[in-house]
Amino acid sequence: MQMTELLAKKRDGGALSTEEIDFMIQGYTRGEIPDYQMSAMCMAILLRGMDERETLDMTTSMMHSGETLDLSPIRGIKADKHSTGGVGDKTSLILCPMVAAAGLKIAKMSGRGLGHTGGTIDKLESFSGFSTAISEETFFRNVNDIGIAIMGQTADLVPADKKIYALRDVTGTVPSIPLIVSSIMSKKLASGADVIVLDVKCGDGAFMKTEQQAEELARGLTRIGRLAGRKCAAVITDMDQPLGTAVGNALEVREALAVLRGEERGELLELCLTLGACMMVEAGVEWSVEEAKLSLMKVIEDGSALEKLAQMVRAQGGDARAVYDPALLPQAAVTMEAVSQRGGFVSRIHAERVGLISMHLGGGRVTKESSIDLSVGLQLHKKVGDRVQPGESLAVIHAASEEKAREAAEMLLECYEFSDGPIEKPRLIKQIIR
Ligand code: URA
Repeated sequence: MQMTELLAKKRDGGALSTEEIDFMIQGYTRGEIPDYQMSAMCMAILLRGMDERETLDMTTSMMHSGETLDLSPIRGIKADKHSTGGVGDKTSLILCPMVAAAGLKIAKMSGRGLGHTGGTIDKLESFSGFSTAISEETFFRNVNDIGIAIMGQTADLVPADKKIYALRDVTGTVPSIPLIVSSIMSKKLASGADVIVLDVKCGDGAFMKTEQQAEELARGLTRIGRLAGRKCAAVITDMDQPLGTAVGNALEVREALAVLRGEERGELLELCLTLGACMMVEAGVEWSVEEAKLSLMKVIEDGSALEKLAQMVRAQGGDARAVYDPALLPQAAVTMEAVSQRGGFVSRIHAERVGLISMHLGGGRVTKESSIDLSVGLQLHKKVGDRVQPGESLAVIHAASEEKAREAAEMLLECYEFSDGPIEKPRLIKQIIR
């Protein structure tokens, strides 16, 4: 078999066979196929597409390019969640302890953030001493004992995706549905959960700019998950503005804690209840999403979801006192209000640019090796649809210095757009795909 033949076939709109796809993925992972041929293939796939069988074959081959996690030592139904990435996305911090408190098992592999979206691991490291560098044995034991553990991604899980994603990033081939589906699902399948729920973001701050594209991606992801024998659902959610009010690691943990304490009852809670309810229904422990949401609300109200987070933090070496006393979380040296010069109704908040401000403050990684400041970020006071008077604060900036805070405040004003007339608040949850 020759890669040149496969390239010509895909260029001309043909479908690659199972053997051809495996040859290409395994050959590229082993370094036998050069980057230039794989780049050309990614572009041919982006332009010509792949059918469902090809996408499943590509996902399966990528999944088997390295180690896979066998979760069979864990008793019960194992659930996992994936988000296609967003600014201010702290849902895992709320959702995981909530569903674990409701009886599902969360054995989650998570990544660190790169660029303007933070990773769950970075956020959790706001609890002093918390570590996700735990052995598989500890991971399994913790999930069996307390129902939840979060481990850092091991180097050898889906090496094909690491190589292909790096190539796509620099060849304009990220926004291809079969490539995104195989990238995400190979990792989720390799992580071993029985139930997978996907939060597919849609809007300015997301890969998928329109609801139609997001729906196509969500359907692709769930179909491949089911064909691979897992229970799968997706929720399409708005990313035309940051999620919730906090952007920045420790600040997002504070917001998540307020939701887990039952104090914040807005759309972020609604999203976590919906994702969790989809997990419970797919797991077969609840009949309907609405009933499942009520069960999950109980674990917020009786404090058991918050206690579950404390148990996990403790079990992974962290200072769980901060779960009950957020003042113990990292705090920035300087806080400064970003004051609006104009009045009106907020019509747009550029999510991606807000994420970049958090990065500018030191809260995001420029390269994998960069260290980050967990304390910095932004706390938004005004979201889309809110009325703003001239001189009112749009957000509080948390920074390491006055200079950084001033720069960030100026940048933030550029992220907001206003309308003179009232604006309807956008719906966070656009669709549930089950
Ligand atoms: N996230 C992934 O893991 N892969 C993609 O291709 C896009 C988003």
